[in-house]
Amino acid sequence: MVLLKDDEKMVIQNKKWWHEAIGYQIYPKSFQDTNNDGIGDIPGMIEHLDDLSDLGINVIWISPINLSPMVDHGYDISDYLQIDPSFGTNEEFERLIQEAEKRGIKVLMDLVINHTSSQHEWFKRAMADLDSKYADYYVIREGRGEEPPNNWRSMFGGSAWEKIPGTNKYYLHLFTVDQPDLNWENPELRQELYEIIEFWLTKGLAGFRVDAISHIKKIYDEENLPSDGPDGLVTVWENYRDALGIGEFLGELRDRVFSKQDILTIAEMDVVDPEKWEEYFGDNGYFSSIFDFYHTAYSIQGKEFANDSEKFIEFLKPLVYKKQELANDRVFFTNFIENHDLPRSLNRFIPKEEIGFHSASVLGMFYFFMRGIPVIYQGQEIGMVDYPKETIDGYIDLATHNNYQDYLLNGLSETEALAQINIENRENSRTPMQWNSQTNAGFTKGTPWFAVNPTYHGLNYQQQKEDPHSLLSFYKEMIQLRKNPIYKELLVYGRAVPGFVEASGVVTYQRKLEKQTISALCNLTNQTIAVDYDAKFEVLLNNYAELDCKTGQLTLLPYQGVILEETSSVNGK
Ligand code: GLC
Ligand code: CA
Repeated sequence: MVLLKDDEKMVIQNKKWWHEAIGYQIYPKSFQDTNNDGIGDIPGMIEHLDDLSDLGINVIWISPINLSPMVDHGYDISDYLQIDPSFGTNEEFERLIQEAEKRGIKVLMDLVINHTSSQHEWFKRAMADLDSKYADYYVIREGRGEEPPNNWRSMFGGSAWEKIPGTNKYYLHLFTVDQPDLNWENPELRQELYEIIEFWLTKGLAGFRVDAISHIKKIYDEENLPSDGPDGLVTVWENYRDALGIGEFLGELRDRVFSKQDILTIAEMDVVDPEKWEEYFGDNGYFSSIFDFYHTAYSIQGKEFANDSEKFIEFLKPLVYKKQELANDRVFFTNFIENHDLPRSLNRFIPKEEIGFHSASVLGMFYFFMRGIPVIYQGQEIGMVDYPKETIDGYIDLATHNNYQDYLLNGLSETEALAQINIENRENSRTPMQWNSQTNAGFTKGTPWFAVNPTYHGLNYQQQKEDPHSLLSFYKEMIQLRKNPIYKELLVYGRAVPGFVEASGVVTYQRKLEKQTISALCNLTNQTIAVDYDAKFEVLLNNYAELDCKTGQLTLLPYQGVILEETSSVNGK
Protein backbone atom coordinates (compact mmCIF):
# COMPACT_ATOMS: atom_id res chain seq x y z
CA MET A 1 0.00 0.00 0.00
CA VAL A 2 1.14 3.52 -0.65
CA LEU A 3 -0.06 6.61 1.10
CA LEU A 4 -0.78 9.43 -1.26
CA LYS A 5 -0.92 12.83 0.25
CA ASP A 6 -2.67 15.78 -1.25
CA ASP A 7 -3.82 19.09 0.04
CA GLU A 8 -7.18 18.01 1.38
CA LYS A 9 -6.95 14.37 2.27
CA MET A 10 -4.92 11.20 2.54
CA VAL A 11 -5.76 8.57 0.01
CA ILE A 12 -4.88 4.94 0.26
CA GLN A 13 -4.21 3.12 -2.93
CA ASN A 14 -3.55 -0.57 -3.23
CA LYS A 15 -0.69 -0.98 -5.61
CA LYS A 16 -1.18 -3.37 -8.50
CA TRP A 17 1.29 -4.41 -11.20
CA TRP A 18 -1.00 -3.12 -13.89
CA HIS A 19 -1.03 0.43 -12.56
CA GLU A 20 2.32 0.68 -14.33
CA ALA A 21 1.06 -0.84 -17.55
CA ILE A 22 1.93 0.83 -20.84
CA GLY A 23 -0.15 -0.98 -23.41
CA TYR A 24 0.05 -1.74 -27.11
CA GLN A 25 -2.86 -3.09 -29.14
CA ILE A 26 -2.18 -5.59 -31.90
CA TYR A 27 -4.76 -6.09 -34.63
CA PRO A 28 -3.50 -9.53 -35.65
CA LYS A 29 -4.73 -9.69 -39.23
CA SER A 30 -2.75 -6.57 -40.09
CA PHE A 31 0.37 -6.83 -37.94
CA GLN A 32 2.87 -9.13 -39.66
CA ASP A 33 2.38 -12.04 -42.03
CA THR A 34 5.10 -14.69 -42.00
CA ASN A 35 3.74 -17.50 -44.23
CA ASN A 36 2.68 -15.25 -47.10
CA ASP A 37 -1.03 -16.01 -47.01
CA GLY A 38 -1.61 -12.26 -46.70
CA ILE A 39 -2.86 -12.50 -43.10
CA GLY A 40 -0.90 -11.43 -40.06
CA ASP A 41 -0.10 -14.26 -37.65
CA ILE A 42 1.31 -15.23 -34.26
CA PRO A 43 4.83 -15.97 -35.57
CA GLY A 44 4.67 -12.40 -36.92
CA MET A 45 3.93 -11.11 -33.45
CA ILE A 46 6.80 -13.12 -32.02
CA GLU A 47 9.08 -11.74 -34.72
CA HIS A 48 8.34 -8.20 -33.55
CA LEU A 49 8.57 -8.70 -29.79
CA ASP A 50 12.04 -7.18 -29.79
CA ASP A 51 10.66 -4.10 -31.54
CA LEU A 52 7.90 -3.84 -28.95
CA SER A 53 10.38 -4.28 -26.15
CA ASP A 54 12.56 -1.60 -27.77
CA LEU A 55 9.53 0.69 -27.87
CA GLY A 56 9.24 0.12 -24.13
CA ILE A 57 5.66 -1.09 -23.69
CA ASN A 58 4.97 -3.80 -21.10
CA VAL A 59 1.49 -5.09 -21.98
CA ILE A 60 0.03 -6.16 -25.31
CA TRP A 61 -3.67 -6.57 -25.99
CA ILE A 62 -4.30 -8.79 -28.99
CA SER A 63 -7.63 -8.48 -30.80
CA PRO A 64 -9.35 -11.90 -31.03
CA ILE A 65 -7.34 -14.82 -32.38
CA ASN A 66 -9.76 -17.65 -31.54
CA LEU A 67 -11.27 -19.85 -34.22
CA SER A 68 -13.57 -17.70 -36.30
CA PRO A 69 -15.24 -17.50 -39.71
CA MET A 70 -14.00 -13.86 -39.62
CA VAL A 71 -17.27 -12.20 -40.51
CA ASP A 72 -16.23 -9.55 -37.97
CA HIS A 73 -12.49 -10.37 -38.23
CA GLY A 74 -12.40 -12.53 -35.13
CA TYR A 75 -15.07 -10.81 -33.05
CA ASP A 76 -17.24 -13.76 -34.08
CA ILE A 77 -15.81 -16.78 -32.29
CA SER A 78 -16.74 -20.32 -33.30
CA ASP A 79 -14.46 -22.10 -30.82
CA TYR A 80 -13.19 -20.31 -27.75
CA LEU A 81 -10.55 -22.93 -26.97
CA GLN A 82 -8.81 -22.98 -30.35
CA ILE A 83 -6.55 -20.45 -31.97
CA ASP A 84 -7.66 -19.78 -35.55
CA PRO A 85 -5.31 -21.59 -37.97
CA SER A 86 -4.87 -18.43 -40.03
CA PHE A 87 -3.10 -16.99 -36.97
CA GLY A 88 -1.31 -20.15 -35.84
CA THR A 89 -1.72 -22.84 -33.24
CA ASN A 90 -2.44 -22.95 -29.52
CA GLU A 91 1.21 -23.93 -29.00
CA GLU A 92 2.40 -20.91 -30.94
CA PHE A 93 0.22 -18.69 -28.80
CA GLU A 94 1.71 -20.17 -25.64
CA ARG A 95 5.13 -19.58 -27.10
CA LEU A 96 4.18 -15.97 -27.73
CA ILE A 97 3.20 -15.59 -24.06
CA GLN A 98 6.51 -17.08 -22.95
CA GLU A 99 8.62 -15.06 -25.37
CA ALA A 100 6.80 -11.90 -24.34
CA GLU A 101 7.36 -12.72 -20.67
CA LYS A 102 11.11 -13.02 -21.32
CA ARG A 103 11.02 -9.41 -22.47
CA GLY A 104 8.92 -8.18 -19.57
CA ILE A 105 5.75 -7.99 -21.67
CA LYS A 106 2.43 -9.37 -20.47
CA VAL A 107 -0.31 -10.54 -22.82
CA LEU A 108 -4.03 -9.72 -22.74
CA MET A 109 -6.52 -11.58 -24.89
CA ASP A 110 -9.75 -10.14 -26.21
CA LEU A 111 -12.69 -11.73 -24.44
CA VAL A 112 -15.74 -11.75 -26.70
CA ILE A 113 -18.57 -13.14 -24.58
CA ASN A 114 -21.58 -11.02 -25.44
CA HIS A 115 -22.08 -13.17 -28.53
CA THR A 116 -20.56 -16.07 -30.44
CA SER A 117 -20.27 -16.76 -34.15
CA SER A 118 -23.27 -18.37 -35.82
CA GLN A 119 -20.77 -21.17 -36.61
CA HIS A 120 -20.22 -21.94 -32.93
CA GLU A 121 -21.19 -25.49 -31.97
CA TRP A 122 -23.67 -24.18 -29.38
CA PHE A 123 -25.49 -22.12 -31.98
CA LYS A 124 -25.51 -24.89 -34.54
CA ARG A 125 -27.02 -27.26 -31.99
CA ALA A 126 -29.54 -24.63 -30.94
CA MET A 127 -30.65 -24.15 -34.54
CA ALA A 128 -30.80 -27.90 -35.15
CA ASP A 129 -33.06 -28.41 -32.14
CA LEU A 130 -34.89 -25.49 -30.58
CA ASP A 131 -35.84 -27.73 -27.64
CA SER A 132 -32.22 -28.54 -26.84
CA LYS A 133 -30.49 -26.89 -23.90
CA TYR A 134 -28.36 -24.91 -26.37
CA ALA A 135 -31.37 -22.97 -27.61
CA ASP A 136 -31.45 -21.34 -24.20
CA TYR A 137 -27.80 -20.27 -24.60
CA TYR A 138 -29.09 -17.63 -27.03
CA VAL A 139 -31.82 -15.01 -27.01
CA ILE A 140 -34.66 -16.55 -28.99
CA ARG A 141 -38.20 -15.15 -29.14
CA GLU A 142 -41.46 -15.82 -30.96
CA GLY A 143 -42.25 -13.42 -33.83
CA ARG A 144 -45.35 -11.23 -33.66
CA GLY A 145 -47.42 -12.41 -36.61
CA GLU A 146 -45.20 -11.94 -39.65
CA GLU A 147 -43.01 -9.46 -37.79
CA PRO A 148 -39.88 -9.87 -35.65
CA PRO A 149 -40.41 -9.86 -31.85
CA ASN A 150 -39.79 -6.10 -31.72
CA ASN A 151 -38.23 -3.35 -33.81
CA TRP A 152 -34.81 -3.10 -32.15
CA ARG A 153 -32.06 -2.03 -34.52
CA SER A 154 -28.75 -3.87 -34.71
CA MET A 155 -25.72 -1.73 -33.88
CA PHE A 156 -24.38 -2.67 -37.29
CA GLY A 157 -27.59 -1.69 -39.11
CA GLY A 158 -30.87 -3.45 -39.98
CA SER A 159 -33.12 -5.41 -37.61
CA ALA A 160 -31.49 -6.96 -34.54
CA TRP A 161 -33.59 -10.11 -35.10
CA GLU A 162 -33.07 -12.90 -37.61
CA LYS A 163 -35.77 -15.37 -38.45
CA ILE A 164 -34.95 -19.02 -37.80
CA PRO A 165 -35.90 -20.91 -40.99
CA GLY A 166 -38.98 -23.09 -40.78
CA THR A 167 -40.26 -21.46 -37.56
CA ASN A 168 -41.79 -18.22 -36.42
CA LYS A 169 -38.94 -17.73 -33.98
CA TYR A 170 -36.13 -15.23 -34.19
CA TYR A 171 -32.71 -14.92 -32.60
CA LEU A 172 -31.22 -11.67 -31.38
CA HIS A 173 -27.99 -10.21 -32.81
CA LEU A 174 -27.02 -6.76 -31.59
CA PHE A 175 -24.06 -6.88 -34.00
CA THR A 176 -24.02 -8.71 -37.38
CA VAL A 177 -26.44 -11.47 -38.23
CA ASP A 178 -23.57 -13.93 -37.76
CA GLN A 179 -22.97 -12.82 -34.16
CA PRO A 180 -25.94 -14.20 -32.17
CA ASP A 181 -26.16 -12.74 -28.65
CA LEU A 182 -25.64 -15.11 -25.76
CA ASN A 183 -28.36 -15.44 -23.12
CA TRP A 184 -26.61 -14.39 -19.92
CA GLU A 185 -29.79 -15.14 -17.95
CA ASN A 186 -28.87 -18.82 -18.27
CA PRO A 187 -26.55 -19.94 -15.39
CA GLU A 188 -25.31 -22.98 -17.30
CA LEU A 189 -24.13 -20.77 -20.16
CA ARG A 190 -22.40 -18.46 -17.72
CA GLN A 191 -20.61 -21.43 -16.16
CA GLU A 192 -19.35 -22.50 -19.60
CA LEU A 193 -17.97 -19.03 -20.17
CA TYR A 194 -16.16 -19.03 -16.81
CA GLU A 195 -14.48 -22.32 -17.68
CA ILE A 196 -13.28 -20.86 -20.98
CA ILE A 197 -11.79 -17.89 -19.18
CA GLU A 198 -10.05 -20.18 -16.68
CA PHE A 199 -8.67 -22.29 -19.52
CA TRP A 200 -6.84 -19.28 -20.96
CA LEU A 201 -5.69 -18.01 -17.60
CA THR A 202 -3.87 -21.31 -17.00
CA LYS A 203 -1.79 -20.54 -20.11
CA GLY A 204 -0.20 -17.56 -18.41
CA LEU A 205 -2.34 -14.74 -19.70
CA ALA A 206 -2.19 -11.50 -17.74
CA GLY A 207 -5.82 -10.64 -18.34
CA PHE A 208 -8.36 -9.53 -20.88
CA ARG A 209 -9.79 -6.67 -22.80
CA VAL A 210 -13.47 -7.44 -22.35
CA ASP A 211 -15.42 -6.89 -25.55
CA ALA A 212 -18.88 -5.32 -25.77
CA ILE A 213 -19.53 -6.32 -22.17
CA SER A 214 -22.03 -3.55 -21.47
CA HIS A 215 -24.49 -5.36 -23.73
CA ILE A 216 -24.84 -8.68 -21.91
CA LYS A 217 -28.01 -7.64 -20.07
CA LYS A 218 -31.13 -7.16 -22.17
CA ILE A 219 -34.41 -5.72 -21.00
CA TYR A 220 -36.77 -7.14 -23.54
CA ASP A 221 -39.49 -5.04 -25.20
CA GLU A 222 -42.64 -7.06 -25.91
CA GLU A 223 -43.74 -4.81 -28.74
CA ASN A 224 -42.57 -2.26 -31.27
CA LEU A 225 -41.50 1.12 -29.99
CA PRO A 226 -41.85 4.35 -31.95
CA SER A 227 -39.21 4.26 -34.67
CA ASP A 228 -36.35 6.77 -34.73
CA GLY A 229 -35.39 6.48 -38.43
CA PRO A 230 -36.66 5.80 -41.94
CA ASP A 231 -35.96 2.06 -41.47
CA GLY A 232 -38.86 1.74 -38.98
CA LEU A 233 -36.42 0.54 -36.33
CA VAL A 234 -35.31 1.95 -33.01
CA THR A 235 -32.14 2.05 -30.91
CA VAL A 236 -33.05 1.67 -27.23
CA TRP A 237 -29.72 1.96 -25.42
CA GLU A 238 -31.18 1.72 -21.94
CA ASN A 239 -32.51 -1.75 -22.74
CA TYR A 240 -29.25 -3.29 -23.91
CA ARG A 241 -26.35 -1.10 -22.92
CA ASP A 242 -25.50 -1.09 -19.23
CA ALA A 243 -29.13 -2.09 -18.70
CA LEU A 244 -30.62 -2.25 -15.23
CA GLY A 245 -29.55 -5.48 -13.52
CA ILE A 246 -26.26 -5.93 -15.42
CA GLY A 247 -24.37 -5.70 -12.11
CA GLU A 248 -25.60 -9.12 -11.11
CA PHE A 249 -23.81 -10.72 -14.07
CA LEU A 250 -20.71 -8.56 -13.83
CA GLY A 251 -20.41 -9.22 -10.10
CA GLU A 252 -20.62 -12.95 -10.64
CA LEU A 253 -18.02 -12.80 -13.42
CA ARG A 254 -15.69 -10.98 -11.05
CA ASP A 255 -16.31 -13.26 -8.07
CA ARG A 256 -16.22 -16.53 -9.94
CA VAL A 257 -13.19 -15.88 -12.17
CA PHE A 258 -11.60 -12.46 -12.42
CA SER A 259 -10.93 -11.86 -8.72
CA LYS A 260 -9.28 -15.23 -8.22
CA GLN A 261 -6.12 -14.11 -9.97
CA ASP A 262 -4.01 -11.00 -10.12
CA ILE A 263 -5.09 -10.02 -13.62
CA LEU A 264 -5.83 -6.87 -15.58
CA THR A 265 -9.32 -6.63 -17.04
CA ILE A 266 -10.21 -3.63 -19.17
CA ALA A 267 -13.84 -3.23 -20.08
CA GLU A 268 -14.95 -1.93 -23.42
CA MET A 269 -17.75 0.16 -22.04
CA ASP A 270 -18.85 3.72 -22.38
CA VAL A 271 -21.35 5.88 -20.56
CA VAL A 272 -21.03 4.50 -17.08
CA ASP A 273 -22.41 7.13 -14.75
CA PRO A 274 -19.52 8.55 -12.64
CA GLU A 275 -21.50 7.75 -9.51
CA LYS A 276 -21.10 4.07 -10.34
CA TRP A 277 -17.40 4.10 -11.13
CA GLU A 278 -16.26 2.45 -7.89
CA GLU A 279 -18.90 -0.23 -8.35
CA TYR A 280 -17.60 -0.97 -11.84
CA PHE A 281 -13.85 -0.34 -11.73
CA GLY A 282 -10.86 -0.60 -9.46
CA ASP A 283 -10.08 -2.59 -6.34
CA ASN A 284 -13.66 -3.58 -5.59
CA GLY A 285 -15.12 -3.09 -9.05
CA TYR A 286 -16.19 -5.56 -11.67
CA PHE A 287 -13.14 -4.73 -13.80
CA SER A 288 -9.70 -3.25 -13.23
CA SER A 289 -10.15 -0.45 -15.71
CA ILE A 290 -12.21 0.91 -18.57
CA PHE A 291 -11.41 2.46 -21.92
CA ASP A 292 -12.23 6.13 -21.82
CA PHE A 293 -14.31 6.88 -24.90
CA TYR A 294 -14.93 10.58 -24.26
CA HIS A 295 -13.46 11.68 -27.58
CA THR A 296 -14.25 8.90 -29.99
CA ALA A 297 -17.49 10.19 -31.42
CA TYR A 298 -15.90 13.37 -32.77
CA SER A 299 -13.73 14.24 -35.73
CA ILE A 300 -12.20 17.53 -36.75
CA GLN A 301 -13.58 16.73 -40.21
CA GLY A 302 -17.11 16.92 -38.79
CA LYS A 303 -19.29 19.78 -40.12
CA GLU A 304 -19.55 21.34 -36.66
CA PHE A 305 -15.75 21.74 -36.41
CA ALA A 306 -14.93 22.39 -40.10
CA ASN A 307 -11.24 21.55 -39.66
CA ASP A 308 -10.83 24.26 -37.06
CA SER A 309 -8.41 22.74 -34.55
CA GLU A 310 -8.95 25.36 -31.89
CA LYS A 311 -12.69 24.93 -31.98
CA PHE A 312 -12.33 21.16 -31.89
CA ILE A 313 -9.94 21.15 -28.94
CA GLU A 314 -12.00 23.68 -27.01
CA PHE A 315 -15.00 21.40 -27.48
CA LEU A 316 -13.13 18.33 -26.23
CA LYS A 317 -11.31 19.98 -23.34
CA PRO A 318 -14.15 20.06 -20.81
CA LEU A 319 -14.86 16.37 -21.52
CA VAL A 320 -11.22 15.38 -21.01
CA TYR A 321 -10.78 17.56 -17.98
CA LYS A 322 -13.94 16.40 -16.27
CA LYS A 323 -13.06 12.72 -16.61
CA GLN A 324 -9.53 13.27 -15.34
CA GLU A 325 -10.76 15.24 -12.36
CA LEU A 326 -13.42 12.73 -11.44
CA ALA A 327 -11.03 9.81 -11.84
CA ASN A 328 -8.55 11.13 -9.26
CA ASP A 329 -8.23 8.83 -6.24
CA ARG A 330 -10.97 6.64 -7.68
CA VAL A 331 -10.30 4.77 -10.88
CA PHE A 332 -7.53 4.15 -13.37
CA PHE A 333 -8.89 4.84 -16.79
CA THR A 334 -7.31 3.32 -19.85
CA ASN A 335 -6.37 6.27 -22.04
CA PHE A 336 -6.11 5.87 -25.78
CA ILE A 337 -6.59 7.81 -28.99
CA GLU A 338 -6.78 4.93 -31.48
CA ASN A 339 -8.13 1.42 -31.75
CA HIS A 340 -9.34 -0.96 -34.44
CA ASP A 341 -12.85 0.57 -34.45
CA LEU A 342 -11.81 4.13 -35.22
CA PRO A 343 -10.21 6.09 -38.02
CA ARG A 344 -6.61 7.07 -37.32
CA SER A 345 -6.20 9.70 -34.60
CA LEU A 346 -4.23 12.07 -36.85
CA ASN A 347 -7.18 12.26 -39.23
CA ARG A 348 -9.63 12.75 -36.38
CA PHE A 349 -7.68 15.41 -34.48
CA ILE A 350 -5.54 17.28 -36.99
CA PRO A 351 -6.46 19.09 -40.24
CA LYS A 352 -5.06 17.06 -43.12
CA GLU A 353 -2.51 19.57 -44.38
CA GLU A 354 -1.07 19.93 -40.87
CA ILE A 355 -0.38 16.27 -40.19
CA GLY A 356 3.32 15.83 -39.48
CA PHE A 357 5.86 15.18 -36.76
CA HIS A 358 4.86 18.06 -34.47
CA SER A 359 1.11 17.50 -34.63
CA ALA A 360 1.54 13.73 -34.20
CA SER A 361 3.93 14.02 -31.27
CA VAL A 362 1.90 16.63 -29.40
CA LEU A 363 -1.18 14.46 -29.85
CA GLY A 364 0.74 11.68 -28.15
CA MET A 365 1.78 13.98 -25.28
CA PHE A 366 -1.79 15.16 -24.90
CA TYR A 367 -2.98 11.81 -23.55
CA PHE A 368 0.15 9.91 -22.58
CA PHE A 369 0.83 11.54 -19.22
CA MET A 370 -2.74 11.72 -18.01
CA ARG A 371 -3.66 9.61 -15.03
CA GLY A 372 -4.37 6.06 -16.16
CA ILE A 373 -3.02 3.35 -18.40
CA PRO A 374 -1.83 4.62 -21.80
CA VAL A 375 -2.41 2.31 -24.76
CA ILE A 376 -0.90 2.70 -28.24
CA TYR A 377 -2.61 1.13 -31.25
CA GLN A 378 -0.35 -0.48 -33.84
CA GLY A 379 0.88 2.06 -36.34
CA GLN A 380 0.01 5.05 -34.15
CA GLU A 381 3.64 5.18 -33.01
CA ILE A 382 4.77 5.86 -36.59
CA GLY A 383 1.87 8.17 -37.46
CA MET A 384 -0.10 5.97 -39.84
CA VAL A 385 -3.04 7.73 -41.50
CA ASP A 386 -6.38 6.85 -43.07
CA TYR A 387 -6.58 5.40 -46.56
CA PRO A 388 -9.76 6.75 -48.16
CA LYS A 389 -11.28 4.58 -50.88
CA GLU A 390 -12.55 5.55 -54.31
CA THR A 391 -15.49 3.18 -54.25
CA ILE A 392 -17.40 1.51 -51.44
CA ASP A 393 -16.09 -1.84 -52.72
CA GLY A 394 -12.71 -0.93 -51.29
CA TYR A 395 -14.16 -1.74 -47.87
CA ILE A 396 -14.76 -5.20 -46.44
CA ASP A 397 -16.41 -4.56 -43.08
CA LEU A 398 -20.11 -5.31 -42.92
CA ALA A 399 -20.77 -2.49 -40.49
CA THR A 400 -19.17 -0.09 -42.98
CA HIS A 401 -21.39 -1.34 -45.80
CA ASN A 402 -24.49 -1.16 -43.60
CA ASN A 403 -23.68 2.41 -42.59
CA TYR A 404 -23.24 3.30 -46.25
CA GLN A 405 -26.68 1.84 -47.05
CA ASP A 406 -28.16 3.79 -44.14
CA TYR A 407 -26.74 7.02 -45.56
CA LEU A 408 -28.32 6.27 -48.95
CA LEU A 409 -31.60 5.51 -47.20
CA ASN A 410 -31.33 8.84 -45.41
CA GLY A 411 -31.09 10.65 -48.74
CA LEU A 412 -27.34 11.12 -49.28
CA SER A 413 -26.01 10.64 -52.83
CA GLU A 414 -23.48 7.86 -53.41
CA THR A 415 -20.65 10.40 -53.55
CA GLU A 416 -21.77 12.06 -50.32
CA ALA A 417 -22.23 8.74 -48.56
CA LEU A 418 -18.77 7.53 -49.60
CA ALA A 419 -17.18 10.80 -48.51
CA GLN A 420 -18.77 10.40 -45.09
CA ILE A 421 -17.74 6.73 -44.85
CA ASN A 422 -14.15 7.63 -45.78
CA ILE A 423 -14.03 9.99 -42.82
CA GLU A 424 -15.61 7.81 -40.19
CA ASN A 425 -15.22 4.11 -41.05
CA ARG A 426 -13.42 1.81 -38.68
CA GLU A 427 -11.41 0.02 -41.34
CA ASN A 428 -9.24 3.11 -41.70
CA SER A 429 -7.15 1.77 -38.84
CA ARG A 430 -7.03 -1.79 -40.14
CA THR A 431 -4.68 -1.35 -43.10
CA PRO A 432 -1.54 -3.49 -42.76
CA MET A 433 1.26 -2.25 -40.53
CA GLN A 434 3.87 -0.29 -42.48
CA TRP A 435 7.14 -1.94 -41.51
CA ASN A 436 9.45 -0.85 -44.34
CA SER A 437 9.54 0.47 -47.91
CA GLN A 438 9.64 -2.95 -49.55
CA THR A 439 6.69 -4.60 -51.33
CA ASN A 440 3.46 -4.34 -49.31
CA ALA A 441 5.31 -2.34 -46.67
CA GLY A 442 7.04 -5.53 -45.54
CA PHE A 443 3.74 -6.80 -44.16
CA THR A 444 3.49 -9.77 -46.54
CA LYS A 445 5.12 -11.23 -49.62
CA GLY A 446 1.71 -12.56 -50.65
CA THR A 447 -1.46 -10.63 -51.39
CA PRO A 448 -2.51 -8.65 -48.33
CA TRP A 449 -6.06 -9.38 -47.09
CA PHE A 450 -6.72 -5.63 -47.04
CA ALA A 451 -4.99 -3.01 -49.19
CA VAL A 452 -1.78 -1.49 -47.84
CA ASN A 453 -1.85 2.30 -47.59
CA PRO A 454 0.50 3.58 -50.36
CA THR A 455 1.94 6.14 -47.91
CA TYR A 456 4.35 3.41 -46.74
CA HIS A 457 7.12 4.49 -49.09
CA GLY A 458 7.75 7.56 -46.99
CA LEU A 459 6.14 6.44 -43.75
CA ASN A 460 7.36 3.22 -42.22
CA TYR A 461 8.79 1.68 -39.10
CA GLN A 462 12.26 0.90 -40.43
CA GLN A 463 12.89 4.47 -41.54
CA GLN A 464 11.75 5.86 -38.19
CA LYS A 465 13.74 3.34 -36.21
CA GLU A 466 16.92 4.70 -37.73
CA ASP A 467 15.94 8.34 -37.18
CA PRO A 468 16.41 9.75 -33.66
CA HIS A 469 14.03 12.60 -34.52
CA SER A 470 11.18 10.41 -35.76
CA LEU A 471 7.77 10.01 -34.18
CA LEU A 472 8.72 6.46 -33.20
CA SER A 473 11.77 7.77 -31.36
CA PHE A 474 9.58 10.36 -29.66
CA TYR A 475 7.15 7.67 -28.48
CA LYS A 476 10.14 5.83 -27.02
CA GLU A 477 11.12 8.98 -25.14
CA MET A 478 7.60 9.39 -23.78
CA ILE A 479 7.62 5.80 -22.56
CA GLN A 480 11.07 6.20 -21.00
CA LEU A 481 9.84 9.24 -19.13
CA ARG A 482 6.88 7.31 -17.74
CA LYS A 483 9.26 4.55 -16.67
CA ASN A 484 11.99 6.81 -15.26
CA PRO A 485 12.32 5.86 -11.57
CA ILE A 486 12.36 9.55 -10.55
CA TYR A 487 8.95 10.23 -12.12
CA LYS A 488 7.28 6.86 -12.29
CA GLU A 489 5.46 7.06 -8.96
CA LEU A 490 4.21 10.53 -9.79
CA LEU A 491 3.11 9.62 -13.31
CA VAL A 492 1.31 6.51 -12.11
CA TYR A 493 -0.24 7.64 -8.84
CA GLY A 494 -0.07 11.43 -8.87
CA ARG A 495 -3.33 13.33 -8.98
CA ALA A 496 -4.33 14.99 -12.20
CA VAL A 497 -5.02 18.71 -12.19
CA PRO A 498 -6.43 19.37 -15.63
CA GLY A 499 -6.63 22.87 -17.05
CA PHE A 500 -4.19 24.37 -14.54
CA VAL A 501 -3.75 27.31 -16.89
CA GLU A 502 -6.23 28.44 -19.51
CA ALA A 503 -5.27 29.07 -23.14
CA SER A 504 -7.56 28.47 -26.05
CA GLY A 505 -6.50 25.49 -28.17
CA VAL A 506 -3.98 24.36 -25.57
CA VAL A 507 -4.54 21.31 -23.39
CA THR A 508 -2.82 21.67 -20.02
CA TYR A 509 -2.65 19.35 -17.07
CA GLN A 510 -0.48 18.76 -14.07
CA ARG A 511 0.35 15.63 -12.19
CA LYS A 512 1.11 16.07 -8.52
CA LEU A 513 2.48 13.79 -5.87
CA GLU A 514 3.71 15.14 -2.57
CA LYS A 515 6.23 17.84 -3.46
CA GLN A 516 6.64 16.83 -7.10
CA THR A 517 4.72 18.53 -9.92
CA ILE A 518 4.89 17.84 -13.61
CA SER A 519 3.10 20.08 -16.10
CA ALA A 520 2.02 19.14 -19.60
CA LEU A 521 1.25 21.96 -22.04
CA CYS A 522 0.08 20.85 -25.47
CA ASN A 523 -0.69 23.33 -28.20
CA LEU A 524 -3.03 21.47 -30.53
CA THR A 525 -3.33 24.29 -33.05
CA ASN A 526 -1.23 25.71 -35.90
CA GLN A 527 -0.95 29.04 -34.09
CA THR A 528 1.83 30.35 -31.86
CA ILE A 529 0.25 30.77 -28.44
CA ALA A 530 1.56 32.51 -25.32
CA VAL A 531 0.61 30.85 -22.04
CA ASP A 532 0.91 32.28 -18.53
CA TYR A 533 3.25 30.09 -16.56
CA ASP A 534 4.77 31.50 -13.44
CA ALA A 535 7.14 28.83 -12.17
CA LYS A 536 10.72 27.71 -12.35
CA PHE A 537 11.04 24.51 -14.26
CA GLU A 538 13.15 21.98 -16.05
CA VAL A 539 12.13 20.66 -19.45
CA LEU A 540 11.64 16.89 -19.40
CA LEU A 541 10.24 16.54 -22.90
CA ASN A 542 9.78 18.92 -25.80
CA ASN A 543 8.81 18.12 -29.39
CA TYR A 544 10.79 21.15 -30.62
CA ALA A 545 14.49 21.82 -30.05
CA GLU A 546 13.74 25.07 -28.21
CA LEU A 547 11.28 26.50 -25.74
CA ASP A 548 10.63 30.22 -25.77
CA CYS A 549 10.12 31.40 -22.20
CA LYS A 550 10.36 34.61 -20.29
CA THR A 551 9.25 35.40 -16.76
CA GLY A 552 5.66 34.42 -16.27
CA GLN A 553 5.13 33.29 -19.85
CA LEU A 554 5.81 30.45 -22.25
CA THR A 555 5.34 30.81 -25.98
CA LEU A 556 4.30 27.60 -27.65
CA LEU A 557 4.95 27.18 -31.35
CA PRO A 558 2.36 25.51 -33.63
CA TYR A 559 1.72 21.99 -32.28
CA GLN A 560 4.40 22.37 -29.64
CA GLY A 561 4.10 20.22 -26.56
CA VAL A 562 6.26 20.28 -23.44
CA ILE A 563 6.46 18.30 -20.24
CA LEU A 564 8.00 20.37 -17.47
CA GLU A 565 9.02 19.57 -13.96
CA GLU A 566 8.45 22.43 -11.58
CA THR A 567 11.41 23.34 -9.48
CA SER A 568 9.34 25.97 -7.66
CA SER A 569 5.60 25.98 -8.11
CA VAL A 570 3.15 28.47 -9.55
CA ASN A 571 2.76 31.52 -7.23
CA GLY A 572 6.08 30.57 -5.63
CA LYS A 573 4.41 28.15 -3.18
C1 GLC B 1 -16.45 -4.37 -30.09
C2 GLC B 1 -15.24 -4.54 -30.98
C3 GLC B 1 -15.68 -4.44 -32.41
C4 GLC B 1 -16.64 -5.57 -32.67
C5 GLC B 1 -17.80 -5.55 -31.68
C6 GLC B 1 -18.56 -6.83 -31.71
O1 GLC B 1 -17.02 -3.14 -30.19
O2 GLC B 1 -14.27 -3.58 -30.64
O3 GLC B 1 -14.60 -4.49 -33.29
O4 GLC B 1 -17.14 -5.47 -33.97
O5 GLC B 1 -17.35 -5.40 -30.35
O6 GLC B 1 -17.82 -7.87 -31.14
CA1 CA C 1 -0.07 -15.51 -42.27
